[in-house]
Amino acid sequence: MDGNGRWALARGRKRREGHRAGTETIERLLDHLLEIKIPFVSLYAFSTENWKRPPTEVKAIFELLDEFIITRLEKLVRQGVRVVASGDLSRLPPKSQALLKDAIDKTKHAKRLIANFCLNYGSRDEIHRAAFFYAQSKKNKVNTKPPSEKEFRRFLWRPDLPDIDLLIRTAGEVRLSNFMLYQAAYAELYFTEKTWPEFEEKDIDDAITEFSRRKRKFGGL
Ligand code: IPE
Ligand code: MG
Repeated sequence: MDGNGRWALARGRKRREGHRAGTETIERLLDHLLEIKIPFVSLYAFSTENWKRPPTEVKAIFELLDEFIITRLEKLVRQGVRVVASGDLSRLPPKSQALLKDAIDKTKHAKRLIANFCLNYGSRDEIHRAAFFYAQSKKNKVNTKPPSEKEFRRFLWRPDLPDIDLLIRTAGEVRLSNFMLYQAAYAELYFTEKTWPEFEEKDIDDAITEFSRRKRKFGGL
């Protein structure tokens, strides 16, 4: 979800207002995904690298996350959206941790759409952790071969989520920036110039139309 800052600055507004507009896009996006029956979405909300930003901006982002949960949780429950997270949440501000825990708990039986909020998420970090926990699980066992995909995936943040089919990046950047490198091995990539606050229902539909035109072979013929 890129371009919140540029969206705001182009309008003579504060970056924080861009992030706030971005949360409105998240709400619109979830409503639309429910409507068109997409069952899974992952949102790259805060990366392991985003801690390099000024503390005031980091604080603003987590305050907006808190506000998003406080104002939208009831609606998410009503809609059947299950909130899950990827990333080491223990580094988040305590209030955000508590609100997220509550959101995860109150939506745990929801079945219509799983919304995976990637927070303090980095793909390399995820893979390092998975390697560590995999090795731990093998302690005291004779290990003669590397793990299969199935064995290794168990140690990723959300082994219950399928691989990524369609990966959308907004605001004209053409890179993955440490997002789900393992899970996006065969993802179809879609890049748009639109900033995240400008991204709307029609843009999702356009991305899906483009996705449906691609021939996916997964290395086969
Ligand atoms: C994305 O918008 C939001 C987060 C990383 C939280 P940016 O903050 O990256 O916006 P730009 O790239 O400065 O426009
Ligand atoms: Mg950016």
